Amino acid sequence: MPSWPVNQWYVAAYSEEIGDGLLGRTICGEPLVFYRTGEGEVVALADRCVHRRYPLSLSHLKDDQIVCGYHGFTYDKTGACVAAPAQKRIPRTARVPAWTVREQDSLVWVWIGDQELADEALIPRAPWLDSPDYTVVRGMEPLKARYSLLVDNLMDLSHETYLHGGYIGTPEVAETPITTEVDEDANVVYVSRHMDDAECPPFYSKSTGIDGRITRWQDVEYHAPCLYLLHSRIAPAGVLPPEEGPDDKAFHVEVTYGITPSTEHETLDFWMVSRDFALDDEEVTEFLATNNHTVVMQDVVALDLLEKVVEGEKENYQELSINIDTGALAARRILTKLVAQGEERTAAAKAVTAP
Ligand code: FES
Ligand SMILES: [Fe+2]
Repeated sequence: MPSWPVNQWYVAAYSEEIGDGLLGRTICGEPLVFYRTGEGEVVALADRCVHRRYPLSLSHLKDDQIVCGYHGFTYDKTGACVAAPAQKRIPRTARVPAWTVREQDSLVWVWIGDQELADEALIPRAPWLDSPDYTVVRGMEPLKARYSLLVDNLMDLSHETYLHGGYIGTPEVAETPITTEVDEDANVVYVSRHMDDAECPPFYSKSTGIDGRITRWQDVEYHAPCLYLLHSRIAPAGVLPPEEGPDDKAFHVEVTYGITPSTEHETLDFWMVSRDFALDDEEVTEFLATNNHTVVMQDVVALDLLEKVVEGEKENYQELSINIDTGALAARRILTKLVAQGEERTAAAKAVTAP
């Protein structure tokens, strides 16, 4: 049984990554090939030719169809083989599976599981990613670690003080207690840490120009399994949001992560930082891109290391958890529930369609 929930949407790519070529990417153990048709529609097919298994992502596109790079089997956007060399009749079974994909908020989402169950309304939102009111920097780092380690990492921000000291971490992040709420029906975990009088980390002092101490709010929303949002509010100490009207004395940064399992021991870490200030300032853009990449790589190094430790340990190893882990433990409970539900729905769908 895979460790990720099926019958779920996952971030497969950024919209801009799918242009006029073929993109191969393994999502939840499924090797997929993505491309964009002339009309702009994104297509996802199994990345394996039915003939001798050549990867279609290493083949080429012609008129919205993939021509296999080995012997030329040609597939349309539904996955049906429409041409084979040296024969007119194409075997009826010559088709590769096609996956349901949707583009929303500049992300390409793929539905992993029973394709008939795909429901577009369930895709979580991150509207600032393609809003003119924000400037976004982003990247993707492949992790050699299971996705649950990245969920743990993002749900507890106390690690900022230690792993990311000098960038985003200051003593207050580890010292201020958190509040945690769980919406069991929506499968969302909320973790908040509001610091009223905190040191301003270089990441924010350099990008906002604030000098002196700050009010720093971190409100996390984890939409299990795939989308993580950190609403970050930074303002000079004492400046709280007004009762009414826009919160325009504060700087807002939306940190967004797509947490996509690739294989059991690999994860695609899509990271995005959106800001509502200095929108056209190239220097701020460059600073946030470079610094956030550094922060992400600090996590990558730590998580790749942790994966080796976890893989090598004896079964039933007991971890110790404390208050700061409340959000991560809630996330784990939801993921366990979703894994079980995914399996049940797939089994139920199979039972109905079995002859
Ligand atoms: S492997 Fe693709 S056509 Fe032979
Ligand atoms: Fe981190």
